[in-house]
Amino acid sequence: MVAPFWTGRRGGMAGFQETHDRLKRVGQEHLLKFFPTLDEKQKTALLAQIEALDVEALPAMVERYVRNRAKHSPPSGLEPVDAYPHDAKSSKKPWDKAKYKSVGEDLLRAGKVAAFMVAGGQGSRLGYDGPKGCFRAGEVSRRSLFEFFGLGIRRAQQQYGKPVPWYIMTSPQNHASTQAYFSEHRSFGLDPANILFFQQGMLPSFDLATGKVLLARHDEVATNPDGHGGSIAALEKSGAIADMKRRGVEHLSYFQVDNPLVRTLDPVFLGLHASAPDSSGEMSSKMIPKFNPDEKVGVFASVMKNGRRVVDVIEYSDFPAALAKDTLPDGSLRFNAGSIAVHVLGVSFLEKLASDKNFELPFHRAEKKVPFVDLETGEHVAPTSNNGVKLEKFIFDAIPLCRGSIVLETDRIEEFAPIKNATGVDSAESCAQIQTLRATRWLEADGVKVPRKADGTPDCVLEIDPLHGAESSDIRERVQGLVIHAGDRRVI
Ligand code: UD1
Repeated sequence: MVAPFWTGRRGGMAGFQETHDRLKRVGQEHLLKFFPTLDEKQKTALLAQIEALDVEALPAMVERYVRNRAKHSPPSGLEPVDAYPHDAKSSKKPWDKAKYKSVGEDLLRAGKVAAFMVAGGQGSRLGYDGPKGCFRAGEVSRRSLFEFFGLGIRRAQQQYGKPVPWYIMTSPQNHASTQAYFSEHRSFGLDPANILFFQQGMLPSFDLATGKVLLARHDEVATNPDGHGGSIAALEKSGAIADMKRRGVEHLSYFQVDNPLVRTLDPVFLGLHASAPDSSGEMSSKMIPKFNPDEKVGVFASVMKNGRRVVDVIEYSDFPAALAKDTLPDGSLRFNAGSIAVHVLGVSFLEKLASDKNFELPFHRAEKKVPFVDLETGEHVAPTSNNGVKLEKFIFDAIPLCRGSIVLETDRIEEFAPIKNATGVDSAESCAQIQTLRATRWLEADGVKVPRKADGTPDCVLEIDPLHGAESSDIRERVQGLVIHAGDRRVI
């Protein structure tokens, strides 16, 4: 399944003059500046790339998001979200974990759940060359992020006796290399017929100063993936939604490519999403209490939109700094619901949005260093400061459109150790530390002693094999009699 390179107009390909006229009407004719110097193949490729671009939409986009820096002002009536607490017995909002787990397990046994991973991003912060999912997140096993997820899905298949289709969104920049990686690794033991890759759309990147679309090369427009929010249109266009319906899939377990601890298929969360009284079964989310006011995670809040109180995610860069620091009498953050970017999405909700002609998620603007061709000299420039604007859509902007959306609190050490940066916070190093802490917790709960350093941290490097378990009780039998020595490096 391959989505078109770009959303835009289709039909027979236009020649130079027609394309030039079209571009001139919107002030972007410089994209053909080097056209006369190109060979025939390059000319055809460039015209095709522009043909697929929604040229007529550019002036409004530039005006609103590039020249005017449309700010996402926080919605009104901001209140903390009423999440299901991690401790289901908490007096704050007690709930029946066992009941919802059983609902989720039934859905998995009935084959009504698929995994959905967004992996089309550019991963520029990590500085890793290649699809981010190929990055080795196993400090001991050297397993890649993709393998962690693949094994988690395999375990669920074994446990519930039904195949779990896995939909993977890539972008033109990493589509072929992602597929090649999966074939080289024999899809981590999964049936390739149940792994469905599709590409997201691309958007032009703009010059920060002038709003003109940048050229990446003489024969190529500079583009960027249209954000994970682009997945709604791409799922529909690629035929993925039709495929889900053929297979009887009703819910998608959504996760990002950067977090090896994610529970790829969590029955408790699935059950809450599908049957909690305050859930519409349209889109649900997981949250963790934020570390501190500055942690770079989106924040769930209850807000007023179009006269309705709805759940929303406000990206960290848009959240009012003063409110982020607000505390409750016990000293905890009032707005503490940090997004770990894990959701469940109803297939019928996605279908409803994708088929609604008036549906469009907003664009978010980011200023970035975008390599470009200098129109005067024709030379390639690698900028050292931000020169460009990239626009993206965010999937979580669909949450306020739900009739009811629940948020489930989870535990950071159990489920959140993303790899985003080369060093420091959210790096491979911090991820390995959290994996060791989680394994230590599980082993100690199962009666195994783990050696500790003078400062109390585990004196070993531990990793859990995702095939062996998604929670402590799963490994209980396997670890009976296990002895861990100081300095050990082990996969449990
Ligand atoms: C994201 C969330 C943030 C959340 C945090 C948790 C956004 C904008 N912010 O931050 O609210 O608290 O994760 O870890 O998402 N992707 C695509 N196509 C694209 C762009 C991104 O598939 O066009 C995928 C990436 O491959 C990745 C995921 O989306 O799997 C997240 O993208 P990224 O831009 O890295 O988001 P973060 O800033 O890490």
